[in-house]
Amino acid sequence: MSKKLDMEILASLCKRRGFIFQSSELYGGINGFWDYGPLGCELKRNIKDAWWKAVVRTREDVVGLEATIIMHPSIWKASGHADGFADPMVDCKDCRKRFRADQLCEDQGLELIKNGAAFALPEGAVCPACGSKNLTEPRSFNLMFKTFVGPVEDESNAAWLRPETAQAIFAQFNNIFATARQKIPFGVAQMGKSFRNEINPRNYTFRSREFEQMELEFFIRPDEAIELICGKVTTLADNPDLAGEPQESWGWEVWHRYWVEQRLSWYRAIGLPAGDLEQYWQVGDELAHYARACVDIEYAFPFGVQELEGIAARSDFDLTQHQKHSGKQMDVFDETLKQAAGKLDDAARGAFSQRVVADWTGRGKPEEEARAFVAKLFDGKYVPHVIEPSAGTDRLALALLCNAYDEETLTDDKGKTDMRTVMRFHPSIAPIKLGVFPLVKNKPELYAKAREIFARLQRRWNCFWDESGAIGRRYRRMDEAGTPWCATVDFQTLEDGTVTLRDRDSMQQVRLTVLELIDKLDSEIG
Ligand code: GAP
Repeated sequence: MSKKLDMEILASLCKRRGFIFQSSELYGGINGFWDYGPLGCELKRNIKDAWWKAVVRTREDVVGLEATIIMHPSIWKASGHADGFADPMVDCKDCRKRFRADQLCEDQGLELIKNGAAFALPEGAVCPACGSKNLTEPRSFNLMFKTFVGPVEDESNAAWLRPETAQAIFAQFNNIFATARQKIPFGVAQMGKSFRNEINPRNYTFRSREFEQMELEFFIRPDEAIELICGKVTTLADNPDLAGEPQESWGWEVWHRYWVEQRLSWYRAIGLPAGDLEQYWQVGDELAHYARACVDIEYAFPFGVQELEGIAARSDFDLTQHQKHSGKQMDVFDETLKQAAGKLDDAARGAFSQRVVADWTGRGKPEEEARAFVAKLFDGKYVPHVIEPSAGTDRLALALLCNAYDEETLTDDKGKTDMRTVMRFHPSIAPIKLGVFPLVKNKPELYAKAREIFARLQRRWNCFWDESGAIGRRYRRMDEAGTPWCATVDFQTLEDGTVTLRDRDSMQQVRLTVLELIDKLDSEIG
């Protein structure tokens, strides 16, 4: 369905029904910023609740963090964002519009030329707005929004709005480890706003300048520590099906694949069809120099297959960077490792050392670093490695909206056709779970009964009261809001306590007592 959808039609429904509005629309809008209306904010809240439940609440090995958006500027030096978080941009000298050089090339079937850290435009590139060939050479543009802390606007008071939530997790790692009563492997999750001054926000909310992320940093032992503890590191070749629960012997490769599978199954559980989800495994120089593997989970949006979430195996890069820049140790003490290393005799220690040094130097790392690493391991210490599943809340909201949108032609008994628009959200993320209607509003007893039922159900789920217009019209309004069920209170309710429950997708109606309705919705909402 989503592939055929015209984004203008979706955007129009989103505005009409109160899912998404252009930010500051009253003043002509502001490019790259979006507001979520009454239905949209419920949708986003449900997405975040579902993520938090799956990633934090239902696991014993993940804890949460809620950090500030503005942090010490040194964090962005250490992470590399201050110097390297940039996109190449070009300006059209004729129409004065600005574009991302890589996107401009991609849209024109060309390849941006890379010379080390610099870029050049290939022959044939033209301005997408006016067709001119009069373009500047690509220049780097840092995507972080800058601000000033305190009243004086000078460089010593400069700060940035965070471009990702992840760095706060690394910067607070020591505090979290000291207080959370967790052992490696364990994860820290955070969700919240991030800001990127994107050169070309586009595809509706897909690439925005203010957006939310849901990120997990899952800290694991380095493979060398696992080898000392377990004697052998389980790789994907040993366990390609990821059978069973996580094991102490799992190396980074298996943990990485485990999180890819976990995240894919979560997307399916909240209603994205398996056939519209893809994995893109980054190769060669697409991978950051510290990343051992990175998979993008992609969704088939109407405007193309695009990234929803990146899952990266980032080694010990981030914590090591913060160790270097802050001067504070970021390593953990691991009693199990200390005991395992203590059991080795000198010969076994020597052989292990030799192997690690050969492996590290083979990967271009200095020998003294390898030796210092091994010495720490024998003391039971290491800087944890990390697997990072990093998702965009707004992108997911957009994918769920695209996926939900459906138009259906209905034919009545007399052969008359009519079209209904229906948002087929999974019940767990639908903004409103149940519409409650009194059949008529001029019968006080019936009306009072309907209000009583509504008040009871509203305590459990987000319900919507609608008493205006014919029942058929009320159903259609709920269809467009994506409400999975509507309950109508009628004269029979006064006699036997049953209501009519209408299903959004099948449009079938059944009579149920309120208790039966609660049971049914509870099991389907999950
Ligand atoms: N900490 C890793 C990180 O931030 P990323 O691939 O740059 O990685 C992760 O971002 C996710 O955040 C993306 O997969 C996407 O869902 C979301 N995201 C990134 N930039 C975005 C933007 N400009 N607008 C909306 N979502 C964005």
